[in-house]
Amino acid sequence: MSRFASLLSWLFDGYWPAEDQHEDLLVRREDVRRRYVATRLLASGDVADLHLATAADEPATTPGAPYLLKVARAPRDNAALDAERRKLTKLLDAAGATTYREYLPALADSFVTAGRFPRRINVFRFKTGFYTLEQVHERHPTLDGRHLAWVFKRVLTILGFSHRQNTVHGAVLPCHVLIHPALHGLQLVGWGHSVAAGRRIRTLPARYQEWYPAEVHCQRPAGPATDLFLAARCLVYLAGGDPVCRRMPQAVPLPIWRFVRTCLLESARMRPDDAWALQEDFDELLLALYGPPKFHELTLT
Ligand SMILES: Nc1ncnc2c1ncn2[C@@H]1O[C@H](COP(=O)(O)OP(=O)(O)O)[C@@H](O)[C@H]1O
Ligand SMILES: [Mg+2]
Repeated sequence: MSRFASLLSWLFDGYWPAEDQHEDLLVRREDVRRRYVATRLLASGDVADLHLATAADEPATTPGAPYLLKVARAPRDNAALDAERRKLTKLLDAAGATTYREYLPALADSFVTAGRFPRRINVFRFKTGFYTLEQVHERHPTLDGRHLAWVFKRVLTILGFSHRQNTVHGAVLPCHVLIHPALHGLQLVGWGHSVAAGRRIRTLPARYQEWYPAEVHCQRPAGPATDLFLAARCLVYLAGGDPVCRRMPQAVPLPIWRFVRTCLLESARMRPDDAWALQEDFDELLLALYGPPKFHELTLT
């Protein structure tokens, strides 16, 4: 298919179908005359496909594909991408130039395509070197306590920040937690499920329904404790345990398991709900268990 033909198919049919046509794909933003060229499908989420892309009219200063286009799969999914855009804009504004910004996907642009079936596209700056916890788990099915420690601490950092902005992520799951093993970095993505504290979470990623706590299944208000519950499930998963049955492998030191278990209590009121306070307690526990913090390399290549 020629570039022109595929552009027409994008504009009039709304979506390109096959992966092998990626090099031909152009997404044109009429209002600012911006064009993105999608180069490869990176992943598919619950409501959107994510494509690596370059900006056609930008000087190629960075090699590779510096953008990530998150494209709503159907017009009914536009609302989820719009919710994500609004929440991320608010959080990135609040983060300013602080390090919290590094924990959030870098939203660079957002627009709705023209044509018969308009789709919202959220555009992110693509950061290399990150892996989802699903990919980490595939390579390392039973992660050591020292790695669990740094991953959990960083999850608590971004959750504490987001909760102070009155925002519950609502889907702290292995598909949305990305880590950078070489730099011990972490990004929390997938903000389309997020709600204000005290509101109900209405959309659950299909594969992870069983992971959610009772308040979500019973359509009761969600709060910081809901995110902490899901973060604790992620830790059990990474350790090689059974997150749904709350079974942790013996290899994980008991003090860590006892600590994490408090986040998994049935009743939200019994669980911790301050991520930063929890992080301080966790630091104390780690000091007693492992001594002063050291860098533990995790290889994923
Ligand atoms: N900023 C990002 N960097 C790298 N990969 C990402 C990023 N955002 C999303 N992904 C990948 O795309 C998948 C789907 O993204 P997500 O935002 O969850 O889409 P959806 O809202 O459709 O579920 C994620 O599970 C992850 O594998
Ligand atoms: Mg998702």
